[in-house]
Formats: sequence, structure tokens, C-alpha cells
Amino acid sequence: MTTHPHIAFDAVSVEFAGRTALRDVSVVLHQKRIAVIGSNGSGKSTFARMLNGLVTPSSGEVRVHGLDPARQGKQLRRRVGFIFSNPDAQIVMPTVAEDVAFSLRGRGLSRPEIDERVSSTLEAYGLAIHAEAPAHSLSGGQKQLLALSAILVGKPDLVVADEPTALLDASNARRIGNHLLDELAQQLVLVTHDLRLAARCDIALRFEEGRLLEHGEPRDVIARYERDHA
Ligand SMILES: Nc1ncnc2c1ncn2[C@@H]1O[C@H](COP(=O)(O)OP(=O)(O)OP(=O)(O)O)[C@@H](O)[C@H]1O
Ligand SMILES: [Mg+2]
Repeated sequence: MTTHPHIAFDAVSVEFAGRTALRDVSVVLHQKRIAVIGSNGSGKSTFARMLNGLVTPSSGEVRVHGLDPARQGKQLRRRVGFIFSNPDAQIVMPTVAEDVAFSLRGRGLSRPEIDERVSSTLEAYGLAIHAEAPAHSLSGGQKQLLALSAILVGKPDLVVADEPTALLDASNARRIGNHLLDELAQQLVLVTHDLRLAARCDIALRFEEGRLLEHGEPRDVIARYERDHA
């Protein structure tokens, strides 16, 4: 198995207004595909958001590919692509091609370089024929592919996806799931309630009540989760 750069949490806790969302989380992750599972409100999104500095620790230390999200958030956000459940909320520009190109702003690329990267990314994600279409005219699954394209065009080192298939129908969910799990070159952190997707990852982390209850072989972690919630 290829070893990816580390994600390391050392005694990390997060409090929001006196309430603890994450409690003393310590883990080192170098696997390619990392699933994050657990009950509602268990701390999964809080964990995911720490990976690009959207949430910073109240105590403890986080390192993501050698960077400290609390101090190097700007650098990190360039290297971490974040995808949410709601594809509509991730569209920022009127057309499909413009939306993907928007991710490359401020990087000092020439117009031809931008055009080349946008068209090859749209091609790879089956969106080339929609390049000039209004982004909001796409289907839910196509919009999520667009969101993924807009992230991948920036060549991030890490993709964090927080329930990326939650709002999609079965066939679109399968399509997005397959792209994330089978076609990414980079490390992936996938927060999901879809245990079949989680089972296809290289490691699963299970959160409960803000604690990292266990992490390991996805099949085993999922089996215990299902048993506890049967
Ligand atoms: N910005 C915030 N302000 C206050 N409390 C928050 C904030 N974000 C999360 N929390 C709290 O932290 C806890 C963990 O929330 P989190 O969103 O990480 O859970 P989750 O595991 O992603 O749940 P779900 O499966 O429902 O998405 C919850 O009790 C939540 O209310
Ligand atoms: Mg969540």
C-alpha cells in the first residue's frame, strides 16, 4: 500500500461555547482512503473541518501533511479540497466552466493554462458537454461532480468529503462514491453514513460523543458500530 503524508492529531479537544465537540483525539493516519463514521453529533464534521483549519483545536495539536492548520490555514486550504453534502451550496459561478476556473484564480496561471486545466478536468468528469451550461441546470449528481471537479482542478494533496452522497439518489451516489474511492490520486477523508462506502476505505475511524472510539480495519469497525446500534 502506498504511504501518504501523515495526518496527525495529538490530544486534540474542541469546545464550542463550553460544550465539548471533540475530546482528546490522538491518531496518526497515512492510509489513502480514510472513512469517518459515527452517530449524529459525534464529532465527525468537527474532525473533518480541522483538516483545513475551518475549526481549530481548543487544546492539542493537529498536523496535516506537515502543516499546522491553526497557523498555516491559508497554505493548507490550497492543499486541501473540501466537498460538502449540498452541491448547490458549492457552486459559485454561473456556468460550469467558469465555476471550475474560479478555483484557479490567484495562482498566477496564464489564461491558456487555466483553459487547458479546466477542459481536461471537465473531460475527466464527464462534464465537457455541459461546459457552457448554467451550473444550476445540472442534476444533483452532476452538480456534485462539478463540485468535485472544481476541487480537483486545483490539484489538492488531500480531499475531505463530508457526506458527499447524502443528498444524491442511488445512481448518483454510486457515481460520486466510485469517483472518490476509485479515481482519486490523492488522500481522501470521507465522512459518511453510507457504511458500504466506508467499507471500501483502507481504514475507518468511529466517533461517539466526541471521542475517537476506535479506528482500524473498516469491516471490523463497521460491524461493531452496527452491532452497537442494532
Ligand atoms: N459551530 C458550532 N457551534 C456550536 N456547537 C457546534 C458547532 N459545530 C458542532 N457543534 C457541536 O459539536 C458536536 C459535534 O458536531 P458535529 O457536527 O461534528 O457532528 P457530526 O458527527 O458531524 O454529526 P452529523 O452526523 O449529524 O453530521 C455536536 O454536539 C454539535 O452540536
Ligand atoms: Mg456532520
